[in-house]
Amino acid sequence: MTDEAPPKLEWRGVKKRFQGRVVLDGLDLAVPRGRSLVIIGGSGQGKSVTIKIAIGLLRPDAGEVRVDGRDVTRLRGAERRDLSREFGMLFQSAALFDSLTVWENVAFRLLNADRVPRAEARARALEALSRVGLGPNVAQQSPGELSGGMQKRVGLARAVVSQPEIIFFDEPTTGLDPITADVINDLIVEQVRRLGCTAVSITHDMASARKIADEIAMLHEGRIVWRGAAADIDRSGNPYVEQFINGRADGPIKGAV
Ligand SMILES: Nc1ncnc2c1ncn2[C@@H]1O[C@H](COP(=O)(O)OP(=O)(O)OP(=O)(O)O)[C@@H](O)[C@H]1O
Ligand SMILES: [Mg+2]
Repeated sequence: MTDEAPPKLEWRGVKKRFQGRVVLDGLDLAVPRGRSLVIIGGSGQGKSVTIKIAIGLLRPDAGEVRVDGRDVTRLRGAERRDLSREFGMLFQSAALFDSLTVWENVAFRLLNADRVPRAEARARALEALSRVGLGPNVAQQSPGELSGGMQKRVGLARAVVSQPEIIFFDEPTTGLDPITADVINDLIVEQVRRLGCTAVSITHDMASARKIADEIAMLHEGRIVWRGAAADIDRSGNPYVEQFINGRADGPIKGAV
């Protein structure tokens, strides 16, 4: 990347409050093209809101979101749908529809927004499933029949099926045992590399953050309080980061009950 190229994705001065409570307080964060950024931070600090604002599920009260240097905050209709094609998302809860089969879940956007013919959509879903280690027999099942780890794989297949330029992972390993979590981390790294996409992930899980991040940013009280290379996280010299990664009750972060 040259110095002049705009970041692939950028939040500029983003503010968001709910019922008078400030969640994001002028968030500034940029992700260069092809890099993997992990956002860490305590529960309720606005990590999921940050991603939802980027993909247009929520609107900021102030500030803007830029993709390739273009302000996309106020896009609607066809322009918003076109932009959505650039995004892939793995939701915090796998958010799969139990009324649909696994492959229909993976192909949901292809079938509904992109109007891809059913046979082609199915073929693409099966290919995405095979990339995350799931065979055609699983494709016919209902998501409710699968283990948590398999559901995450399905969510991952759905996130990559349309070959997005920017991919978001919200808590991809929460609720999984450490070995399954590591398999998911490996799959994330492999898919992001294969697609050459820009990745933004959220996690509480520092093993996951270390594995999937090029850079780590810590969100606290609506702003980024530290950002640096993943390799530097253990010598951040930042009291918020140190308290968070060591899981200490004592420090500048006041625990919620
Ligand atoms: N649609 C909404 N309406 C009202 N309040 C909301 C909404 N979405 C989020 N919030 C509030 O905003 C705050 C931040 O929520 P968010 O889900 O972003 O937290 P988080 O950092 O992702 O936490 P966790 O680690 O628990 O997932 C919370 O207090 C939450 O209750
Ligand atoms: Mg969240």
